[in-house]
Amino acid sequence: MAEAKRIGLLTSGGDCAGLNAVIRAVVERAVGGYGWQVVGIRNGTDGLLTRPVAAEVLELSDFTGEIFRRAGTILGTTNKGDPFDYEQPDGSRLDLSDRILEGLAQLELDALIGVGGDGSLQILRRLALKGGINLVGIPKTIDNDVGATEISIGHWSAVHVATQALDHLQPTAASHSRVMVLEVMGRDAGHIALTAGIAGGADVILIPELPYRIERIAAKIEDLKAQGRNFALVVVAEAVKTEDGEAVRTLQAGGKQTYGGVGHYIGQRIGEATGAETRVTVLGHLQRGGPPTARDRLMASVFGVHAVDLIAAGRFDRMVGWRNREAIDVPLAEAVVRYQAVEPEGALVQTARGLGISLGD
Ligand code: F6P
Repeated sequence: MAEAKRIGLLTSGGDCAGLNAVIRAVVERAVGGYGWQVVGIRNGTDGLLTRPVAAEVLELSDFTGEIFRRAGTILGTTNKGDPFDYEQPDGSRLDLSDRILEGLAQLELDALIGVGGDGSLQILRRLALKGGINLVGIPKTIDNDVGATEISIGHWSAVHVATQALDHLQPTAASHSRVMVLEVMGRDAGHIALTAGIAGGADVILIPELPYRIERIAAKIEDLKAQGRNFALVVVAEAVKTEDGEAVRTLQAGGKQTYGGVGHYIGQRIGEATGAETRVTVLGHLQRGGPPTARDRLMASVFGVHAVDLIAAGRFDRMVGWRNREAIDVPLAEAVVRYQAVEPEGALVQTARGLGISLGD
């Protein structure tokens, strides 16, 4: 059994609801349970690039019973690229991995817990292998696309916000006899769109895993009209492409392209095809900032405790997860190679079809 006494903790990649609950769980288990020290590293791997390293010891007294109820991460995070190939302000690229590992060495850690999505966990694993770091990963992402676990922290809170958005759109849609299009996040996976679409009573759900045709969507809306319905709710995942297969992107200041905008394309096409008055809502980062749902707080607690227990048992290069009502752990390598998109024949797709929801195909 490894005698870990001082462990590092960082959150990396896009934030989501439930990260503070993970931080709290790790501190409770490691400090309260084992009497270890937990060093919180600021802003993901960015905190390891500054000198002195941006990190501080986290105490039980830092967690007063309020923080875990809030979204965001008290440690800060970064999703700005790959430290092995880091873009500099002048456009050149640098490998900063040695500097990060030197920063980690300065912290004199026995082990590191990295909370991240598939991209961040992949990077952290590469760093750990290069620097001989005892790493344990915790999956978080609203997109729920990390392989080998049924759930990642943040997903259910995002689904909750998207479901509430549909609850809020339905009355105004019905009052004005409109088609409401809701664009949700999820990167290349349609989990948020499909899950919230079912929960929120959508009539049409478009996900990147299934091709669609505008005429099929229009037919569904005409059907609803023929049945006496005066409104329709359409949910679109942000990575859905145009009917011709073109990706829709938003250009951010500085030149970075992000997902966003396909909702407007779909809304316009539906309007043209049906003559219906159409309005579009892009839900965006609201899906990341609301209070974590009970399920996310629970998973955060399970994952935080299990990750610390793995360190106590000297089991590294693993990711914690949740499967069949059990906390599990799997080799990190297995988790990061298995991208989890929506299964086109899976239970939720079948459920949507069973409810008469159009998937556009
Ligand atoms: O991966 C999480 C996520 O919220 C995606 O769903 C979304 O496409 C992306 O991050 C947004 O990133 P940013 O915060 O950089 O705009």
